[in-house]
Amino acid sequence: MPILEYKGKRPKIHPEAMISPQALIVGDVEIGRGSSVFPGAVLRGDVARIRVGEYTNIQENAVLHGGDIYEGSKLVSHTPVEVGSYVTIAHGAVVHGCRVEDTVMIGVRAVVFNQAVIGEGSIVGMGAVVLEGMKVPPRSVVVGVPAKAVKKVDDVAYSMIRNHALFYHRLAKSHVSGFLTYAGS
Ligand SMILES: CC(C)(COP(=O)(O)OP(=O)(O)OC[C@H]1O[C@@H](n2cnc3c(N)ncnc32)[C@H](O)[C@@H]1OP(=O)(O)O)[C@@H](O)C(=O)NCCC(=O)NCCS
Repeated sequence: MPILEYKGKRPKIHPEAMISPQALIVGDVEIGRGSSVFPGAVLRGDVARIRVGEYTNIQENAVLHGGDIYEGSKLVSHTPVEVGSYVTIAHGAVVHGCRVEDTVMIGVRAVVFNQAVIGEGSIVGMGAVVLEGMKVPPRSVVVGVPAKAVKKVDDVAYSMIRNHALFYHRLAKSHVSGFLTYAGS
């Protein structure tokens, strides 16, 4: 399984997290209980830390990486990636230098960029681009390029987001001994 140390920092992955041997997890990365990382996903904790909560799924070809902060032309710092629990990061999404709170769905091929915050219980629609620094209030649906809020997440949609994360936990478990492996095994 390509879980690699970088500059003395080795990923800390809960033994009951499920990781694909085809994923790449490097450096200052932590992943919580019951979360899953599917083939082709890359979590590169080199410039800044990456934290992922519990029962979160990171699907095929998603990329998580720290952000760059410039003052003028000068690179001055980096921003971490913080992802909460019961989050879906769907196929091909890019989550870069930003914070995603609990019970959020990041849709297929969406981009969430540096210092953006996706508030608890929100949905980022398929293909949306959440620009640098955008603060998405809790329980918002945002779509488009650049992303704009179009409506609120009602109780039904909120339950759907959470149920989707729980469904993915069960789905990932069904692939253990197939293309996913418990980190503790
Ligand atoms: C954003 C989303 C939740 C909206 O679904 P919905 O609640 O059924 O809302 P609607 O279809 O009524 O859409 C509301 C408006 O947003 C637009 N819209 C919906 N999804 C959009 C998207 N991804 N990009 C751009 N516009 C979108 C609709 O055209 C509609 O516009 P209108 O009011 O001008 O007609 C859904 O389209 C979506 O992208 N879900 C994510 C799916 C996904 O990636 N799941 C992960 C699977 S592993």
